[in-house]
Amino acid sequence: MENNKLWGGRFTESTDANLEKLNSSINFDKRMFAEDIEGSKAYASALEKINLLSEQETSLICDGLDKVKIEWEKNVFETKHGDEDIHTANERRLQEIIGEPASKLHVGRSRNDQVVTDMKLWLRTHLKELGNTVRSLIKVIVDRSSHEVDIMMPGYTHLQRAQPVRWSHYLLSHAWNLKKDCDRLDDILKLINVMPLGSGALAGNPFNVDRISLAKDLGFDSVTKNSMHAVGDRDFIAEFLFWASMVGIHLSRLAEDLILYSSKEFEFVTIDDSYSTGSSLMPQKRNPDSLELIRGIGGSLFGQCCSFMMVLKSLPSTYNKDLQYDKEAMFTTFDKLKSILEVATGTVKTLKINQDKCKNALSFEMLATDVAYYLVRKGIAFREAHFLAGKVVAEAERKEVSICDLTLEELKNISPSFGVDIGRVWNYENSIEQYQAVGGTAKSSVVKQIELLENWLA
Ligand code: ARG
Repeated sequence: MENNKLWGGRFTESTDANLEKLNSSINFDKRMFAEDIEGSKAYASALEKINLLSEQETSLICDGLDKVKIEWEKNVFETKHGDEDIHTANERRLQEIIGEPASKLHVGRSRNDQVVTDMKLWLRTHLKELGNTVRSLIKVIVDRSSHEVDIMMPGYTHLQRAQPVRWSHYLLSHAWNLKKDCDRLDDILKLINVMPLGSGALAGNPFNVDRISLAKDLGFDSVTKNSMHAVGDRDFIAEFLFWASMVGIHLSRLAEDLILYSSKEFEFVTIDDSYSTGSSLMPQKRNPDSLELIRGIGGSLFGQCCSFMMVLKSLPSTYNKDLQYDKEAMFTTFDKLKSILEVATGTVKTLKINQDKCKNALSFEMLATDVAYYLVRKGIAFREAHFLAGKVVAEAERKEVSICDLTLEELKNISPSFGVDIGRVWNYENSIEQYQAVGGTAKSSVVKQIELLENWLA
């Protein structure tokens, strides 16, 4: 029998080596060493309050745990055979350092409530870190937008030239996606901050440990109200994975735009050398690898979410070992998302905007809607105006000229409402400046967006 197993008592044979490997999560969950120790110290104090530990034992345990933590921090903690997970490893080491009192720490607690507590503590901190990284990207977008507000470009729908817009308006559309992600993150943080510790393996805590004050010590807002729910609940992980997928999707859409815009066919932007790579074969190549990786990882984040939800689906109540996969999903997602957020921030910050290329890509048929609005302002109903503007486009196509080159006479043949003032329509800036209602692309409206986001960031 292996004595170093927490659960070795009822076993007469040792674990198969392959199972041992599969069962072990220490290589992943050691990242939560600090949270595991934080939870254990708080739990020791809670045990002292109900006289399950003496004052002296509690301080021995807490000092011992501090020593264990230092070993992790200095990277000198030696994991041993049988250290199945971080909880087992920390307890084993504590026992080695302080001896007997260590074996009293786990009373009433199970790794089932311990692991969820550790994960919530870990995620709480790291979600805030991710939130800050998202905000840094938003800030870069907002800063660019305020400096580059006068640059005009074609706006697209269906990837077809639609209407002229400000480059800043376009860029800020991505900032607003990310702002929503930050709002969602605040909601998730509230859901996470409910303490499961004190739920035991599934039935609760038999020593009437004061969960409310334990929660307070650990910075939780409240405690879970059903122990069976608490040990089997991984909704917060699924929510995090979904949230990360959503951010990944937002980044991938920004990346896709910029990949297109940086191609020779568009050339609206130039991706900085520091965020591009070359080809081993074609010397002329400058590839937007940064953006392609963002786009690719955006997809794999959703894969992670999807695969974890499949783990949860149809799982029997409370804890099952399948749930151990939660850590891999959580850590991998965190790492990948953080890395693409950082690369996105750098790429957007350093890219060069080619103002002339953007402007030269505008073409007069993009003002066909404005022709319709011109007629509306002359008193024609929109449907009719739209139809007549369509005729203008068709006539220009037939004559193989730009719509602005049709003569007034030709226009009057389509509608007598056309007058010399149609000349004002053939101006991109005038077109853009019509959109002054909240959320539009007129300068005043874009500046307002910048102010709103700047205030929010502050
Ligand atoms: N390493 C385990 C996990 O991550 C901890 C919980 C183990 N609980 C148990 N009943 N075997 O899920």
